[in-house]
Amino acid sequence: MPHMGEAYQGLDEEEIRLEEVHLDTHQGLIFGRIADEGPSLETYLGDFAWYLDVLFGTTEDGMTVVGEPHRWESDHDWKTSADNFSGDSYHVLTTHQAGLETENLARGPWEELNDFPGASYLACTDRHSVGYYLSEDADTFMGYPDEITEHLNPDLGDEQRELFGRSVFHFGTLFPNMSIIHGIQSGGWGGPWACIRKWNPRGPGKTETTSWWLIPRELADDESFLEDSHRGWESLSPGGAFESDDLTIWEGISDSSGAVTHELRETEGNMQQGMDEMTDEVETVDDPLHGPAEVTSKGLYFDERNSRTLLQSWYEMMRMEGDA
Ligand SMILES: [Fe+2]
Repeated sequence: MPHMGEAYQGLDEEEIRLEEVHLDTHQGLIFGRIADEGPSLETYLGDFAWYLDVLFGTTEDGMTVVGEPHRWESDHDWKTSADNFSGDSYHVLTTHQAGLETENLARGPWEELNDFPGASYLACTDRHSVGYYLSEDADTFMGYPDEITEHLNPDLGDEQRELFGRSVFHFGTLFPNMSIIHGIQSGGWGGPWACIRKWNPRGPGKTETTSWWLIPRELADDESFLEDSHRGWESLSPGGAFESDDLTIWEGISDSSGAVTHELRETEGNMQQGMDEMTDEVETVDDPLHGPAEVTSKGLYFDERNSRTLLQSWYEMMRMEGDA
């Protein structure tokens, strides 16, 4: 309040002070809760903390943000992109077909993983979701330089270490609007890189996206790695090959979801993919590598379980009473 003494004489500052936000951290990530009463961060993350640790706590010094984040606004509803990151593998082979089939680029580590995919998982806790592509090779480490193994965090559990070791790609959404992605890109598109996304609603059908690029702190001076990692991150920037594909689809989904014909003709969307009556490929997974969350499929999966969980959670939150 500029010139407060002259412009607001006698003002009781206590009456107009800013609302307090209750802060807590996990692996260096800062979260805020506006409501006075509510779950602690530990309770809110629940089993999902295990998966966040596999991204943010794999090396002793942890992950660090490089440079400024990308920010852009697009004509899509934030839930569409949060849903996409929560575990949508179905779209990859069509939406990103051109990028995946590009042949005039140097072959990347993806192709060298000739046993890929060893396994893939979709896992979700009560609200949060992740997906993994895994190699059979226990020393894959998402294509990081070999020295990454010298820096592994001793606090990682055996399963977390093995999961990281076999990982090719890892993505997910922390309900409601924070997403993560970590891995190498196919076809020489670069990487490995990690990214945090924040889907910020800017009104109906408008989202401001912030995208941070992260790397293991121990590799911050490795110029060759930085170049590859930056290339991977930029492939998912608003001007990148893969993000350009996604943005067009997200906008189309948001647009058509609001079409008046849905009301007039009483049509409904379909999100049954992966349910028992839709596929016979869903199987229970005993492999402990999937962590503490519930896993619904293994193999090359098509399953909207994570999407259903996210949208159901949003529906329930919107029906809550009070300020919880
Ligand atoms: Fe995509």
